[in-house]
Amino acid sequence: MSEAIKHKIEKLSKEIEEHNYNYYVLSNPTISDFEFDKLLEELIQLEKEHPEYLKSDSPSQRVGGQITKEFKTVKHKYPMLSLGNTYNEADLKDFDDRIRKAGLTDFEYVCELKYDGVSISLTYVDGKLKQAVTRGDGEKGDDVTANVKTINSIPLKLRGDDYPKEFEIRGEIFMPKKEFLRINEELRKQLIEEGYDEEEIFEKQLKNPRNATSGTLKQQDSKAVAERKLDCYLYALLGENLPFVSHYESLEAEKRWGFKVSGDMEKVSSVEGVIKYLEKWDTKRHHLNVETDGVVIKVNSFDHQKYLGFTAKSPRWAIAYKYKAAQVSTVLESISYQVGRTGSITPVANLKPVQLAGTTVKRATLHNADIIEKLDIREGDTVFVEKGGEIIPKIIGVDKSKRDVHHTDDLFGTTSHPTKYITHCPECETELIRKEGEANHYCPNELGCPPQVKGKMEHFVMRKAMDIDSMGEETIAQLYDAGLIKTIADIYELKKDDLLKLDRMAEKSANNLLSGIEDSKKMPFERVLFAIGIRHIGETTAKKLAFYFKNIDALKNANLEQLLEVGDIGEKTSQTIIDYFADENCERIIENLRKQGLQFELSEDQIVNTSDKLKDLTFVVSGVFSKFSRDEIKKAIEQNGGKNVGSISGKTSYVLAGENMGQEKHKKAEKLGIPIISENDFITMIR
Ligand code: IVH
Repeated sequence: MSEAIKHKIEKLSKEIEEHNYNYYVLSNPTISDFEFDKLLEELIQLEKEHPEYLKSDSPSQRVGGQITKEFKTVKHKYPMLSLGNTYNEADLKDFDDRIRKAGLTDFEYVCELKYDGVSISLTYVDGKLKQAVTRGDGEKGDDVTANVKTINSIPLKLRGDDYPKEFEIRGEIFMPKKEFLRINEELRKQLIEEGYDEEEIFEKQLKNPRNATSGTLKQQDSKAVAERKLDCYLYALLGENLPFVSHYESLEAEKRWGFKVSGDMEKVSSVEGVIKYLEKWDTKRHHLNVETDGVVIKVNSFDHQKYLGFTAKSPRWAIAYKYKAAQVSTVLESISYQVGRTGSITPVANLKPVQLAGTTVKRATLHNADIIEKLDIREGDTVFVEKGGEIIPKIIGVDKSKRDVHHTDDLFGTTSHPTKYITHCPECETELIRKEGEANHYCPNELGCPPQVKGKMEHFVMRKAMDIDSMGEETIAQLYDAGLIKTIADIYELKKDDLLKLDRMAEKSANNLLSGIEDSKKMPFERVLFAIGIRHIGETTAKKLAFYFKNIDALKNANLEQLLEVGDIGEKTSQTIIDYFADENCERIIENLRKQGLQFELSEDQIVNTSDKLKDLTFVVSGVFSKFSRDEIKKAIEQNGGKNVGSISGKTSYVLAGENMGQEKHKKAEKLGIPIISENDFITMIR
């Protein structure tokens, strides 16, 4: 029996790694994600039941979970050197000359792209990944093995059987551009919900894929690493008595062993060939899903490499050619000012459209008044726009030689003047303020400035807030522009006749909207608290505050100390809460909403049923129940600290089954050994 299980685990592991290889190394999956997840779940469950067969190279290790409290420092067996840099063809020819002067005449180069990530050294023993160490200072680095194991394209076990018993392989771990954009977009959505403005979001977002990679690799929880899909190209093999005569040959072998080696490298026979490669990739590289900042040129033959040797810092047989950060110049047609949902002002440069690193650039943020002053940027100026590893274009300077030369008789006048930052809000003409120590100007007219009010309303009706789903951005704009709603409280005063006056609003949609508004009055306190849009109060914080203070009056009267006691709420957020309730207008809106019947305190059963009895437990709720509705049960789970998930996996703690739970779910729970409990069992658990 146990032999059979061991065999099954081995077979599954092998099968899963094969699919991993097809998907992540060859980019050629042969099964669906769903089927893949099923196989992985099965393996995880078997290993859970038979931990004696769990191997360190099992593909289940890729989902993460291992915590590294402190990364061990490890001395590199072979130091991790850096490369000399060149920035132009002349330097490159010098490099080639030096090699010839050293005595080589007939030799080849291998050209590779220079990936912009974090370099890593992997040690394999008997075909298994043993250790992964960062470059560090070149002599010693950090042991990040647990985190690196979550990177799907890095083999935990090698393919074939012709690999050396022990070797090191080096490469670059990177965050694919698409993944970088995905994470930033997700973060952005979350921050918008929490009421952050554009500049704050810009500050908090990942700066570039390289920073994001190094930050990710230093996470203590390898699960967090697994969630950010890092990738890795390998480009150097090191070890004793390796059976290869050239770098190119070793790369071919690496591919056979299952490593991801870029297909973009080329063997060339002269410096002219190198230059052709540089030209070919100058723009083409921008279309890759990995950030690159140059080309690495290596002498191919290992004998030649040995012959040339090293200087103190770098090899004489290799060099890096760095592309200049993509840069163009264009005309700044105008500066406009955007007012965000929170009132913060962002100056934006409107540029004459120009092509840069694969995209058309029309606009770039100028961030704030200080930056405008520092650049001394003026409408009509010719400006330099750059796109480095940042992906987002940036104005880096003004071509002052071009200033005042043109536009002798046009709208810019003969002499340009320093840009005067606006003093009043472009939307509502209120005088702007700038708080001590803050870079941005704000429009303080929170309750009268159109984009701010509309923004607040959009937030209020959002699905996660009051969930008035028939009231979209467009309807809000119409209602607001028609003067029918000035504050969120006015939403509850809307009459059918008012609505019917609007464009594209028929009887049916008006009824829908009104019933949606009416239904929202039942939304529990924590949702109302989130919906009113106190700055920096996201969904989670609102929930915490609601359950801690239990009603709005207690929250309103709380002082700084009491707010800090809630936990996870810092001084800045606490102060925002205090400021909010100190504002008479905000208070009036709350009173109006209260009069309309919105929930400003926890309900009886919310108070009774609040505990952390189900902390760390995960439930799948399925079927029909007799005492409570499914939603009530799900709510009770959350209020007692548990978590609801949609489908059964190895990580589920309980399946809460009502009448008519599907056969499939039953079977799955049984197969994975997840306890199935009844409504009554559950009630006992939280009693
Ligand atoms: S070879 C002896 N090849 O660039 C140095 N490096 O300054 C061997 N890099 O630290 C490095 N792409 O992190 C090599 N195709 C490539 C590379 C590459 C990126 C990085 C690497 C290294 C730095 C060199």
